Amino acid sequence: MSTSSDNAAPPASLPWHRRGVGRARNIKSLRALAERRLPRAIFDFVDGGAEDEVTLRENSSSYGKYRLLPRVLVDVSSTDLKTNILGRESALPFAIGPTGGAGFVWPRGDLALAKTAEAANIPYALSTTSAVSIEHMRERVSSRLWFQSYIFRQRDFTDKLIDRAYAADYEALVITVDLPVGGNRERDYRNDFAVPFKFTPRNVLDFALHPEWVYTTLRHGLPSFGNLTNFSPSKDVNAAASSVGRNYDSSFNWDDLARIRDRWSRKLIVKGVVHPLDAERLVGMGVDAMVVSNHGGRQLDSGPATIDALPQIVATVNKRAEVFVDGGVRRGSDVFKALALGADAVLLGRASLFGLAGAGPAGVERAVSILREELVRTMKLCGVTNIAEIDRQFLVSTSPFCLNANE
Ligand SMILES: Cc1cc2nc3c(=O)[nH]c(=O)nc-3n(C[C@H](O)[C@H](O)[C@H](O)COP(=O)(O)O)c2cc1C
Repeated sequence: MSTSSDNAAPPASLPWHRRGVGRARNIKSLRALAERRLPRAIFDFVDGGAEDEVTLRENSSSYGKYRLLPRVLVDVSSTDLKTNILGRESALPFAIGPTGGAGFVWPRGDLALAKTAEAANIPYALSTTSAVSIEHMRERVSSRLWFQSYIFRQRDFTDKLIDRAYAADYEALVITVDLPVGGNRERDYRNDFAVPFKFTPRNVLDFALHPEWVYTTLRHGLPSFGNLTNFSPSKDVNAAASSVGRNYDSSFNWDDLARIRDRWSRKLIVKGVVHPLDAERLVGMGVDAMVVSNHGGRQLDSGPATIDALPQIVATVNKRAEVFVDGGVRRGSDVFKALALGADAVLLGRASLFGLAGAGPAGVERAVSILREELVRTMKLCGVTNIAEIDRQFLVSTSPFCLNANE
C-alpha cells in the first residue's frame, strides 16, 4: 500500500462531493459537510479546541462584537482585492495557514490546499506535520510557499527541516511559538484519537459508520507525515508527531529564535503572538511579520480572542513589521473587520480545512471562493473599492472590551 506522502496529486472530489459543494452557501455549510463525511474522532480533531473551548468559541463570536458602518454613494461597480503580503502582490488579503493532519481528512490534502492557493494567487503555509513533504510540495506547486516549523527536541532535526525549506525555495519561514507543550484537547482523549489510529471498539464503530472516508483513506494510503519519514532519530515518528507537543522543545526561547533569525535570511514570520510586549520584542529582533494567533483555540484556553488582541498589537508594531491574524474567520465580513482593525492579511485555518474535509479539492476551492465573494459584497455594501481603503471608520464596537477599536 502506498502512503499519503507519495508525490501524487490528491484524488479528485467525487460527484456527490461536488453536489454538496454546489449547495454550500457559506463556511458553516462546508463544516456541516465535513461533519457528515468524517468519523467523529477526525472531525473533532479538526473542529475542537482546548479544555472548555472558551477561546475557540470567542475567536469566532468576538467578530460579532463589531458592527460595520457603511459609506454610501460610492461607485462600487468594480472592486480590487489585490494587496501586498510580505512585500509581494497577493490577489486576496488572505493566505492559507498551516494545518497539520490535513492528510487525515483527505489524501494528500495539503496539496489540495496548496493548489487552491496557487490558483487563487495567494500564499500557502505548509505545516511541519503535513502529509506531503517540503520537496514534493515544491515539485507540484510553483507559487508562493511558506514553511511552518515546530521546534523539535532534537534541534538538528529542526535545523535540517529549515534547511530543506530553504533549499526548496520557500519564500518564508513561520515559527509557531504558542505550542511549548500540547494543548489539553479533551475531545481527542474522549474519542481515543491517535496516530497511528487506535482501533478501539468506539473507533471501529465510528469508522464503520463513515465508509466513504474509510474507503478513500485506505485506497490512497494511510496518512503519514511526509516531512518526518526517513529523517527522525525516533523509530515511531508518526506517533511522536501526533501526540501534540510531546516531541517539541519546551525550552525554546528568545535566544533560540534569534539564532533562527540569523540562520534564515529570507522572510521570517512568528505565529502565535497575543501580548504587545512580545510583539515589541519581535519587532526589535527584526522579524518580518507576526501572526496574532492562539492556534485556533487549540492551545491555551481562556486566552483572548485574536480579534480582541489585534488592535493593541497593531498599535505596538506601528508598521515596523506586517501583522497577520487568524482564528475564527468564517465570513468575508470577518476578513473585512480584521483589515479594518489594522491587520495586513488574514490566515485561514479551519475555513479551508472544512472545505477539504467535506468535499476534497472542490471543497477547498469553494471555501476560498465563498470568502472572496463575501468580502467583495461586504466591500461594495460598505462603499469600499479596494483593500487599502478599509480602515477603522467602517467599524463600531458594541463591547467595552474592544473600545480601543475606534481610537
Ligand atoms: C486541524 C488543525 C491543525 C493545525 N495544525 C497546525 C500546525 O501544524 N501548525 C501551526 O502553526 N498551526 C496549526 N494549526 C493552527 C492554524 O494554523 C490556525 O492558527 C488556526 O486554525 C486558526 O483558527 P481557525 O481554524 O479558527 O481559523 C492547526 C489548526 C487546526 C484546526
